[in-house]
Amino acid sequence: MKQAAATVVDSGREIGDCYRSVRQKTLTLCEQLTHEDMMVQSCAEASPAKWHIAHTAWFFESFVLREFLPGYRAFNPDFPWLFNSYYEGFSAFPEKRLRSSFSRPGLDQILAYRAHVDDGVERLLETGPVEEALRRIELGVNHEEQHQELVLTDILHAFFTNPLRPAYAGGGKLKDSRSQNRDLAPPDPGRSRHPEFQDFEGGLRQVGFTGDGFCFDNELGRHKVWLDPYSLANRLVTCGEYLAFMGDGGYCRPELWLSAGWATVKQSGWRAPLYWSEESGKRDGDWSVFTLRGTMPLDDLLDAPVSHVSYYEADAYARWAGRRLPTEFEWEAAAEGEPIQGNLLDSGRLLPANPDRNRGIVQRFGDCWEWTGSAYLPYPGFKPLEGALGEYNGKFMSGQMVLRGGSCVTPQRHIRSSYRNFFSPETRWQFSGIRLAT
Ligand SMILES: [Fe+2]
Repeated sequence: MKQAAATVVDSGREIGDCYRSVRQKTLTLCEQLTHEDMMVQSCAEASPAKWHIAHTAWFFESFVLREFLPGYRAFNPDFPWLFNSYYEGFSAFPEKRLRSSFSRPGLDQILAYRAHVDDGVERLLETGPVEEALRRIELGVNHEEQHQELVLTDILHAFFTNPLRPAYAGGGKLKDSRSQNRDLAPPDPGRSRHPEFQDFEGGLRQVGFTGDGFCFDNELGRHKVWLDPYSLANRLVTCGEYLAFMGDGGYCRPELWLSAGWATVKQSGWRAPLYWSEESGKRDGDWSVFTLRGTMPLDDLLDAPVSHVSYYEADAYARWAGRRLPTEFEWEAAAEGEPIQGNLLDSGRLLPANPDRNRGIVQRFGDCWEWTGSAYLPYPGFKPLEGALGEYNGKFMSGQMVLRGGSCVTPQRHIRSSYRNFFSPETRWQFSGIRLAT
C-alpha cells in the first residue's frame, strides 16, 4: 500500500476498469477447478481457492465499502470475522489451518458475496468517491492480484498431494502458450554449464519506490545505499545446474549449509526441490517435476530455472558454486528502469521458461522470485498505514528474507523493480529460484 505523498489515482474510471478486470481474472483462474478442488488446503502456507475468492471480497467490504459507501449493508454479519486473514486491529479471526473446514458457506454464497461487494464498489464509483476511497480500491486490486498468484501456488501444492497428480492446465503441453510470450528457447544441446556474469559499478545509489504509480508501504521511503562493485548472473540457476549440485552431495554436506538450513534438511528429509520426484521403477536419478501442467520429465526442464527451493537451498547452492546471493539493493539497482517484461502470468505458460539466448540479463521479471541475501526490514522512514491496514506488510518484518522480480504466476501489472516479496527462509511452495552474484 502506498503513502499519501506517493499516491496518484488518476480517475475513478481508470480504477473502475482495473477493478473489473482484476476481479474477473480471479474467477477465470478458478474456472478449471472443481468445487472439491477449491476446498483443499494441503500445507500450512496455503489456503483453499474458495477462501481466496471470499477473502478478496472481504478486503473491499471491510476497508472500502464499510468506510466509504453510506448505507452499505453487510452481506452476512459473520463474514467480517470469518474471512479476516490476520488483521488483529479489525476483528478476531479463525485459525488459518481451519480454512479447509469452511464447507459452509457454500460456493454459491461466496459468489453471491462477491457480486454483492462488486455492486457496492460500482455504486461507490458512481458517486465520485473521495481520493482515499479510490486509494483503498487500488490497494484492494493489488491485494487481489497477490491472491491470484496464491490461488495458483496453492492449487499446485494441492494437486501435488493428490495421488492422481492432476494437471491444472494443458497436461504438460505448452503449444497454447508459446505464441503468447517471447519466443521460448528450446533446450540448448550445447548449453553452457555456467551463467555469464554482468558487472555493475555500484557506488551511491537510491533504492525504494519512486514515480507516480501504486506501491506498497514497504517500498518506501526511497533512500541512499552504498554498493561496492558487484556482478550478477545473466540468468537464473537451471534445473540442470541444480542437479549437478545434488549429484555432488549438495544435500549431504553440512559445510555448504547455514546451521538452521542444515537442521531443516535433516528434519524435513530434503534431498531435492519441492515437486521433484524420483520416479519409482526407473533407474536411479530419473527425476520428474510436478508443474501446473502436470508431471514433466526433468530431462525436458534441464535448461529451465530451478524453482520451489528455499532460501536455505539457494544459499547452499551459491556456496557450492563459489558465489553468493545478491542483496536486494544490488538486485534493485540493476533492475531500475528496465522494462517490465518476461514470463509472467499474462504469458499463460504457468511454469518457468528456458532463458532467451540474447545478451544481457534475462529472467529479471517473471519465471521465479529470486531469493536475495537481504533480511526483510523496514526502510528508513517506513510508515505503515494507519489503523488495521498498517498490519498489511509491517508486522512481518522479522525472520523473513526478501525475494525480487515476480514469477510465472505474477500478474504483469503487479510487479516492478522496487517490489519486495518476503518469506521465511524454509519456504518452498512459492515459485522461488536462484540468481547468483559475486
Ligand atoms: Fe489477503
